[in-house]
Amino acid sequence: MHPWIADRTTTFDASGIRKVFDLAAKLKDPINLSIGQPDFEVPESVQDAAIDAIRGGKNAYSPTQGIGPLRSALQQEIDSRYGHDDREVFVCSGTSGGLMLSMLSMINPGDEVIYLDPFFVMYPALLKMCGGVAVPIDSYPSFQLDPDAIAAAVTPKTKMILLNSPANPTGVTATAEQLEAVARLAAEKNIALISDEIYSRFHYDDAFVSPAQFNPDTIVIDGFSKSHAMTGWRVGYVHGPGEVIATMLKIQQYSFVCSPQPAQWGALRAMEVNLQGHIDDYLNKRDLICDGLADRFEFTRPGGAFYLFPKAPGDAGGEAFVHKAIERGLLIIPGKIFSARDSHFRISFAASDETIAKGVALLNQLADEA
Ligand SMILES: Cc1ncc(COP(=O)(O)O)c(C=O)c1O
Repeated sequence: MHPWIADRTTTFDASGIRKVFDLAAKLKDPINLSIGQPDFEVPESVQDAAIDAIRGGKNAYSPTQGIGPLRSALQQEIDSRYGHDDREVFVCSGTSGGLMLSMLSMINPGDEVIYLDPFFVMYPALLKMCGGVAVPIDSYPSFQLDPDAIAAAVTPKTKMILLNSPANPTGVTATAEQLEAVARLAAEKNIALISDEIYSRFHYDDAFVSPAQFNPDTIVIDGFSKSHAMTGWRVGYVHGPGEVIATMLKIQQYSFVCSPQPAQWGALRAMEVNLQGHIDDYLNKRDLICDGLADRFEFTRPGGAFYLFPKAPGDAGGEAFVHKAIERGLLIIPGKIFSARDSHFRISFAASDETIAKGVALLNQLADEA
């Protein structure tokens, strides 16, 4: 290792994802079911608002906590939803920025953080960077949030429980009962509860429920990346107890500084956009992929997000199956990137119906050959 590299960077690695991208780079015209962002464009009115902001000279730093109008609009929405006395919001540099600030603000070396396996790739990396100890809870094969399993993993060192519903990479959503049980457990044990709600708008079979409805100290992280296809714009937001938010802002002031100002004006406009057409479309895509694969693959039907996490057919495991798929021009992601297990793979159905149909046909063919 190069002598300049800090120890904290060696606690996690990114080689798994790099390997997939290296393989993918060799493909000419892949059937791409690997993308973690919607296949629709940023709504035109949102594009116009950002362009107007740039042309109107709104190009400087914004206040650390975000531009006033966006913060007020978010705070109003949050207050009317939760009505908590102590719930403040600020704008951060994407949900990822909010996750990083949460860890830096709350995790001391040795603190334990509970989350489900499979998990979003950033969770273990970020918490290990802060010296935290990952406590993943195996949720195979249903990927459901099991409050008893969470309770059993709690120790005197548990500092945080990190929830993500709808989830990446499984698309599974937690029920109101499960969320309430975990929210009450966190309150009772005085554990920080973080809810990553980046996929909250992609919720197909019932209404989205937040654990913040049951625990007023829940820290909610959300953003515009997925809902409005603005992944490159870097606008997210965090809301929670004032003192925690103030600490996160102190770190943002000396790190990210602010979310890009023109993108924040775009996000303000985004709050007025009706997404229902897109959500209906994605529900249909969910059904298309699930119905197409149901005969030959084992999976839990996703209630949200735009991912499916099937078991690889045969005995070779997830990574070997993904390599075979990539050799045949289909881009999917091995489950072991999101998990301690190498048995599954992730499909993103944020793609055209035509691409989904091609992917389904090839996957079924590969299953027959396995
Ligand atoms: C569960 C989850 N949280 C957070 C993020 C990061 O989103 P953002 O673009 O807002 O940083 C992603 C992106 O894939 C995600 O899947």
